[in-house]
Order: sequence, then C-alpha cells, then structure tokens
Amino acid sequence: MLGCTTGHRFDLARQGYVSLLSGRGTAHRSDTADMVTARTRVFADGLYSPLQDAVARACIDPAPGIVVDAAGGTGAYLAAALGGSERIGVSLDLSKACARAAARVHPRAISVVADLWSAIPIADGVAARVLSVFAPRNPAETARVLAPGGAWVIVTPNPGHLAEIVEPMGMLRVGEGKSDRLEADLRADFVVEQTSVVTARRELSASRLADVAGMGPAGFHRTRDELAAAARALAGDGSVAATLDVTLTVARRR
Ligand SMILES: C[S@@+](CC[C@H](N)C(=O)[O-])C[C@H]1O[C@@H](n2cnc3c(N)ncnc32)[C@H](O)[C@@H]1O
Repeated sequence: MLGCTTGHRFDLARQGYVSLLSGRGTAHRSDTADMVTARTRVFADGLYSPLQDAVARACIDPAPGIVVDAAGGTGAYLAAALGGSERIGVSLDLSKACARAAARVHPRAISVVADLWSAIPIADGVAARVLSVFAPRNPAETARVLAPGGAWVIVTPNPGHLAEIVEPMGMLRVGEGKSDRLEADLRADFVVEQTSVVTARRELSASRLADVAGMGPAGFHRTRDELAAAARALAGDGSVAATLDVTLTVARRR
C-alpha cells in the first residue's frame, strides 16, 4: 500500500501497478484490454521500432531526473527511453489494461493509473523527460514536473500516417489543426529545440493490419471481427504496405 501526507491510501494491484484514481473514477475513455493486446503484438513485431528508437535518441542526456511517459499505454516508448541508462521511469495511463502491461515493461519502470486531465502525480521539477506519444497532453502539468532544462518529447501523426489503410480500415483521419494545437500547447512554457519527421514503410499481414487499426481509436467503435474482415478484404493471404509518418518534437522547458 502507498500513502500520501494527507492520509489517502492507495492499494498496489497484484499485477504490479498502483491506481491513484479517486473513488469517483473518471469520465474519460481509456484503452481496452483488446486494444492493449493488439498494440503489444504490433510492438513485439517491431513495426513501430523506428519510432521507439527515435524517442530513445531524444532521451539520451546525462542530466539527472526521471522519465515520465504521460498516457504511456503499454510503456513501450518508456522502455526504449530508459534503455541502458540508470534512470527510473513512470508510465501513467488512465487504462488499467495499459497499466498491467506497463508494469512488466522494464525493471526500472513504475506503472500508475491516473487521469492526466486532473494532475500528473509527480513532484515538481523532477523529470528529465516527459513523453507524450500519440497521447493527450497537459502542458501546464508537464511544465511543472519537468526539471529546469528538462524536455518534453512529443510524437504526433502527420496526415500521411498509415494513409494507405485509414479509409478501408475505418480508422480516424489525422485532424486538421493538429500542429496549431501543438504550437498552442508549447507557447507558454517551452522552446522547440528539435523537430524531425520519422517515416518507415511497413508490410502488414491481415492479422497485423487488424491490430494496427484496433490498437487505435477504431478499436473503440469497430469490433475485432469487423476489423478482421476489413483486413482480410485488403490484405488477403498476403500483405499490404502502410507508411508510418510522424513528427517528433523536442521542446525544452523555459
Ligand atoms: C493512442 S494511445 C497511445 C499510448 C502510448 N503512448 C503509445 O503510443 O503506445 C493513447 C493513450 O492515452 C490514454 N489516455 C486517454 N485519456 C487519458 C487520460 N485522461 N489520462 C491518462 N491517460 C489517458 C489511453 O488509455 C491510451 O493508452
């Protein structure tokens, strides 16, 4: 059990994570167990490894401090960021299914269920890096937990991301105005230090295609059977090509 100075007590789940949600829970939607299983298979096949490598490179830094993966999902990016360093990492996610996966992702990773919109449950100024990968962002809380000189590593999809499969698989398009929203999030407390585009072409079998669609928002509104049928129609017994196309932004806290 964990406790705080104001007397709250939080149980450690058998699966190795701690939930900091209050009894009232949350109104927000978070990833389901099926989405986590799909995501785990996609990552195990290395389909997103160029992106995980890019995040890891953005976290190489001798400065002290922990790494916080905000809305970290299965914690795969956190594990890449911790790599061989001595750092400790914390994966935060609203989803218990994600927290279960993140609890096993790296020996120096701690997994926490928390709602990013309330607060990031981390002390002021202790993080060398905060990661926001395909994730909701809370700029004020991110600035608060970053150490002076620490950096926010953000991954956002470009319009070409998975463009070949978005429509046939019933996935969401990248919304217009995403880069404006990022700029607005960074304006008050951050200076952009680096932006890079990461692209990679992937061959997806029908089952991996269903996973790539099902691990994202399509997993909320299409059943696994619907996704599998759409994937078979597209890839048959072979495969279909899809392009990863994202922007990685490193923004330093002022
Ligand atoms: C698209 S997934 C990205 C996960 C991970 N960063 C990755 O790329 O593998 C978005 C994540 O945000 C989490 N999430 C959504 N709303 C949240 C909130 N209010 N607080 C914390 N996590 C949240 C979801 O549960 C999900 O794991």
